[in-house]
Amino acid sequence: MNYILMGPPGAGKGTQAKKIVEKFGIVHLSTGDMFREAKKSDEDIRKFLESGQLVPDEIVVNMVKKRLEKDDIKKGFLLDGFPRTVNQAQELDKMLKSENIKIDAVFFIDVHFEEAVKRISGRRVCSCGASYHVNFIPPKVKGKCDVCNGELIQRSDDKENVVKDRLDVYEKQTRPLIDYYKKTGLFVNIDGLKSESEVFEEIKKHIEAK
Ligand code: AP5
Ligand code: MG
Repeated sequence: MNYILMGPPGAGKGTQAKKIVEKFGIVHLSTGDMFREAKKSDEDIRKFLESGQLVPDEIVVNMVKKRLEKDDIKKGFLLDGFPRTVNQAQELDKMLKSENIKIDAVFFIDVHFEEAVKRISGRRVCSCGASYHVNFIPPKVKGKCDVCNGELIQRSDDKENVVKDRLDVYEKQTRPLIDYYKKTGLFVNIDGLKSESEVFEEIKKHIEAK
């Protein structure tokens, strides 16, 4: 069970990834989460993230390569936010080929620009990893995490001035990947405009049908 989860910023990749890995017992591999950890001690990474630009392919590819060498990925894995350029996808193909690993499906969570902006602007996160939306998926107590009671904050790259740049970067550098994966026959379009649980049901249905 090896999957790729794609979609524009704010589509719901992280939200669905949590549910998928919990249900199927596979490893969640989010390059965004890895870089948010790395930026605490790496000024260059921090600059890329906070300006909404992609981290250079070479850095991303090396980081993923190292991660895929760990033993736990044998349980199966879900890539969230990687690959994000055609070059990254080609490098991933090489890595997987050399390890004789196959991807079973590429799920594309399809949401339009306006919805992505709404979802991003209302997102609030906790340092424990939990994530909410002020209107769509609100915490029980405003501003507090349901899991650990921690303070909810806005991700620094969710500020209005960065969001547009992230969406521009997506259009130019990541959208071409749709055609790349359509050609492989692995591409599965998921209607991301539905509710969190409906989107999950649709992905689950595909996984269980395999
Ligand atoms: P990354 O962390 O991957 O960010 P992203 O792709 O911009 O996606 P997001 O995490 O913003 O959105 P999501 O799709 O996970 O949505 P979520 O589930 O949170 O990357 C961050 C940065 O790291 C990049 O900008 C780049 O600098 C760097 N980076 C990462 N990977 C890289 C790579 N491969 N190469 C180069 N650089 C890389 O949901 C969003 C909101 O919507 C939440 O509030 C949620 O509660 C709500 N929501 C979710 N589902 C629904 C629903 N169905 N209905 C209503 N609301 C919903
Ligand atoms: Mg995410």
